[in-house]
Amino acid sequence: MKRKLRMGMVGGGNDAFIGAVHRIAAFMDGKIELVCGAFSIDPQISKQSGEDLFVAPERVYLNYEEMIEKESLLPEGERMDFVTIVTPNFLHFAPAKLALEKGFDVVVEKPMTVSVEEAKELQETVERTGRTLCLTHTYSGYPMVKQAKAMVKEGHFGKIRKIVVEYPQGWLSRLSEREGNAGAAWRADPKRSGKSLVMGDIGTHAAHLAEYVSGLKIQELCADLTTFVEGRLLDDDGSVLLRFENGAKGVLMASQISAGEENAVRIRIYGEKGGLEWANEDPNNLIIKMLDQPRQLYRTGNAYAAPYTLSSFATHNTRVPAGHPEGLLESFANIYRNFAATVTAKREGKTPTAEQQDFPTVYDGVRGMAFIDTVVKNNEGTEKWTKFVL
Ligand code: NAI
Repeated sequence: MKRKLRMGMVGGGNDAFIGAVHRIAAFMDGKIELVCGAFSIDPQISKQSGEDLFVAPERVYLNYEEMIEKESLLPEGERMDFVTIVTPNFLHFAPAKLALEKGFDVVVEKPMTVSVEEAKELQETVERTGRTLCLTHTYSGYPMVKQAKAMVKEGHFGKIRKIVVEYPQGWLSRLSEREGNAGAAWRADPKRSGKSLVMGDIGTHAAHLAEYVSGLKIQELCADLTTFVEGRLLDDDGSVLLRFENGAKGVLMASQISAGEENAVRIRIYGEKGGLEWANEDPNNLIIKMLDQPRQLYRTGNAYAAPYTLSSFATHNTRVPAGHPEGLLESFANIYRNFAATVTAKREGKTPTAEQQDFPTVYDGVRGMAFIDTVVKNNEGTEKWTKFVL
């Protein structure tokens, strides 16, 4: 395929937050172009957003149904290749399902749906149609997160015993949903957000990061959810004890009332021989702590000599030389670049490399929804441990 992949968007208009980040990320490597959209729930905003983004007026649609239907009728050489869905949580499933059924690949925000049933239906649709679905768990795109995963996988730390993952934010410390914050309003509304605010919004990121880096699956958990802010309809803080498949134990904290925090994602993993630490607010560093050794600092973009050579997964996802910081936008762009390479390879009848296939998929989306369900079930019930059932 000697052309850019053509992208359509659902949501992400001038009234949105994350849509613009998706566009920056998608365009960063010059492999993707925006050709159409149903950019907002408000047709006027959608129209204006299309104009601002130089999308042809006839391809700015009134709603996602019209967009997917009309695009599917365009000739092969014109129609979009994939849809990016960046709407509130309750509006992920329907456009994703319709797009897959009509032959389009999909990039969708987390949490993938608002129920396990919907998530499983998307999994079935992906398997039946053979299409690709990419879920944007942002933190898995960082080079030093990939380095951490590679070092765990190669047994650098020995058998993993302990996983501690945190995602504290402070922006919901007040009742922002009643103070004109549109993003807070839908997030705190059970009908538009799902069963849990804190776990849907950021807990799924933390759970995904823990499973991604450790390579281990959560098997059961014990959860404590709280609504600290009076008048809020959903939880805004959660602590979860985790049991992983090889006997490893974990702790997950996700909180949106940690006043003063920004996006302080941090993961620490400890094995028999040593441990690692990575933090989103310092993402080009990976701290390695081995028993009886001084601490080591691995940094993005270095050509270290053996045995410190960075993994091919880290270098594949690095763009600039060491010392030039990379961040959220590049991490997001890595997810898009790998997705685009996989889609292109599949269309050309080739097998994508392992590095290209390294992005979150529909299976991670199903696990994310099962995580939320299990946390809520355990928090509401009386049993100490609840099995993670898919
Ligand atoms: P937002 O409220 O800022 O934007 C939502 C957009 O969807 C708006 O443009 C709105 O008009 C549009 N929309 C709503 N209904 C629509 C419909 N029927 N058709 C077309 N457009 C429609 O929300 P935000 O913060 O951008 O979040 C969107 C999604 O992205 C959520 O699922 C959220 O969980 C996820 N997210 C993920 C992040 C990450 O780190 N991966 C960060 C922030 C959000």
